[in-house]
Amino acid sequence: MYATIKAVEYYLPEGVLPNSVIASKWPEWTEKKIESKIGIVERRLSGENEYTSDMATTAARKLFDSGACSPEQIDFLILCTQTPDYMLPTTACIVQARLGLATTIGAVDVSLGCSGYIYSLGYAKGLIETGQAENVLLITADTYTKLIHPDDKSIVTLFGDAASATLLVATDRPAPSLGPFVYGTDGAGAGNLIVPNSGTRSGYDPNAPLVEDTMGNKRTANNLYMNGGEIFSFTLSTVPATLERLLDKAKITLDDIDLVVFHQANLYMLKHLQMKMDIPDEKFCVRMKHCGNTVSSTIPIVLSELMAEGAVKSGQRVLLVGFGVGYSWGATLVEWA
Ligand SMILES: CC(C)(COP(=O)(O)OP(=O)(O)OC[C@H]1O[C@@H](n2cnc3c(N)ncnc32)[C@H](O)[C@@H]1OP(=O)(O)O)[C@@H](O)C(=O)NCCC(=O)NCCS
Repeated sequence: MYATIKAVEYYLPEGVLPNSVIASKWPEWTEKKIESKIGIVERRLSGENEYTSDMATTAARKLFDSGACSPEQIDFLILCTQTPDYMLPTTACIVQARLGLATTIGAVDVSLGCSGYIYSLGYAKGLIETGQAENVLLITADTYTKLIHPDDKSIVTLFGDAASATLLVATDRPAPSLGPFVYGTDGAGAGNLIVPNSGTRSGYDPNAPLVEDTMGNKRTANNLYMNGGEIFSFTLSTVPATLERLLDKAKITLDDIDLVVFHQANLYMLKHLQMKMDIPDEKFCVRMKHCGNTVSSTIPIVLSELMAEGAVKSGQRVLLVGFGVGYSWGATLVEWA
């Protein structure tokens, strides 16, 4: 059996944070300046009472409503999130019940951020191609905006909330193919994108002091912290090498690729990567204007939009690369069905 992607849908929550609101708080960052620097016009915010399982369930229902499959057909659920509803139980268990999926399925959370979609595709392929599952529902969902301090201008502009749902199915034909995969991990960068008070080592502290950094950004240790410069350098050195590893493994060159979909971190970073790897504009997908960096949902959002617009055609090769928090990264190839 071979694994293939059959359908991709996504959900954006209703709340909107446009550049105009950010620019009115920090006039030195005009709407135009934010858009030209990071390529984002607005990001979407989960509601006060809207959490990861809510968004995950909505995205999956969109997939079922599209006619791609019925809930009864799903025999494995992978839910990729770093903002689970609870530390335990897993959000996958909650979503299994809310979607009415069979109690005979496997359901698991994958705790990864911007690389998470690639890893989850790899797991799904493994499950299908070893005969453990035939119809895998892969959901990505995150509510990073709940972790961002409203006075931290360094990251308030970047991240948005979203969820996606991808259906992977078993086929008896080797094409269209999914893979090969390459992965990478360097926990030495763990402190550069982190919520310090977020686990058993150091939990949420209601009295955590508000600190202001040298750039005037304010946050507590309960909030998301990002060292943008370090993340930028890591990405610029790691992503080109990862792409080379993947092309070597697949025994092809960039000329054999039709479309390149990187994790949509921000335009500044993507433009540097594109330039460094000499990827032509017509192959390079940039789509985050309307939603910002949605962590593990960025790649499936792009795929879903490409499919809806008919911009990706049967037999085309799409190269996917995810990278970020961890540090963790990965890449794969999708031959389109
Ligand atoms: C965050 C990031 C965009 C900042 O860019 P940078 O060039 O290093 O930022 P600097 O602080 O040196 O500022 C350079 C200029 O860009 C501006 N700038 C920085 N961030 C900006 C933003 N979000 N919106 C608008 N302008 C911004 C600064 O004001 C400064 O402008 P000036 O030259 O007029 O004074 C960049 O470091 C980056 O892409 N990091 C990776 C972060 C990321 O995507 N993480 C997600 C996880 S994968």
